[in-house]
Amino acid sequence: MMPSQPPAADAPPPPAALLLAWYDRAHRRLPWRITPPMAAAGERADPYRVWLSEVMLQQTTVQAVKPYFEAFLARWPTVEDLAAAETEAVMKAWAGLGYYARARNLKKCAEAVAREHGGRFPDTEEGLRALPGIGAYTAAAVAAIAFNRPSAVVDGNVERVISRLEAIETPLPAARPAIRRVTEALTPLDRPGDFAQAMMDLGATICTPRKPVCALCPLNTLCAAFRQGEPERFPVKAARKAKPVRYGAAFVALAPDGAVYLRKRAETGLLGGMTEVPGSDWTSTPSGTDLEAAPFPADWTEVGTVVHVFTHFELRLTVYRATLASPDSRLGNGWWQGRAGLMDEALPTVMKKVLAAAEPSLAARAKGAAGTRSKKKDLTA
Ligand code: ADE
Repeated sequence: MMPSQPPAADAPPPPAALLLAWYDRAHRRLPWRITPPMAAAGERADPYRVWLSEVMLQQTTVQAVKPYFEAFLARWPTVEDLAAAETEAVMKAWAGLGYYARARNLKKCAEAVAREHGGRFPDTEEGLRALPGIGAYTAAAVAAIAFNRPSAVVDGNVERVISRLEAIETPLPAARPAIRRVTEALTPLDRPGDFAQAMMDLGATICTPRKPVCALCPLNTLCAAFRQGEPERFPVKAARKAKPVRYGAAFVALAPDGAVYLRKRAETGLLGGMTEVPGSDWTSTPSGTDLEAAPFPADWTEVGTVVHVFTHFELRLTVYRATLASPDSRLGNGWWQGRAGLMDEALPTVMKKVLAAAEPSLAARAKGAAGTRSKKKDLTA
């Protein structure tokens, strides 16, 4: 066999080396992150913190996640604490982050780790993947960041970086297998967790969707899209289908002391187990008879329309308000919620919008939701 050629003395460093050198200088300091200086001082990643942050960061921005992450850790410092928590308390603490199935799965996963694994997360991608609610992305991210496994971690940021680096013309989502293969080939055996986080930081701060700052990019000499002069064209996206629209009515009943009538949604399905104001079913055409869905007779006044975009459809809710002179505490299957405790309710963002539409003074209380932006416009929950 021919001896393999040693790399030429003037060969450029591989992408991983360039990226890691940049990360050592330019990494973001994030509450869940062990930065290179912290690692040099002997600190090691806590798998619980890594897992919690990765679940929260799915579909939600770093800025929005930070306060939730801090609050969860303060309240449930270990996976055993989270496993022992009331599901209801976890759902309430999650309210505003969206995608509530994540909160339910978070609790189930914590229980599995606490009861079946003695409170220690499995340290391989396969072991992590077997836990409830842990998908391919989270398993790879936790394996790489918490356990230094050379797993290919591919999120939206990484898809953008790789599709530009290689100028991949295949549109998303069809390009995903190719992007994965390239990421696997680039992932180093040394510092794979830092490599994954460096890719995310690069995508978030330099290789941004619009106006990427290619002049500052550590990979610009290797980037095919930069060479072509139009990095923003990548990743190429398939034409989007219009989302279906659903219509419904929401009823905000107020007591003279300002209490609001609330109820709990069914445990299963969209926003399962979350709190809402009463409303109609959501249908593909406006019903024309909204008031038939009112929870009780009252002097209902139409006050506006709330539009909320879910992953698979757009919802248009006509909002009605009524103030009841003498609210009956035995009404229906809901309860009268005083203003003081309103913010502690597990109200999804769409319901906070409904309350804000019904009464401006409720808008301020509902503000917690407004700060929680989804990473993608079409993925708010
Ligand atoms: N997005 C998803 N995971 C992340 C992480 N670990 N650091 C920064 N951004 C992220």
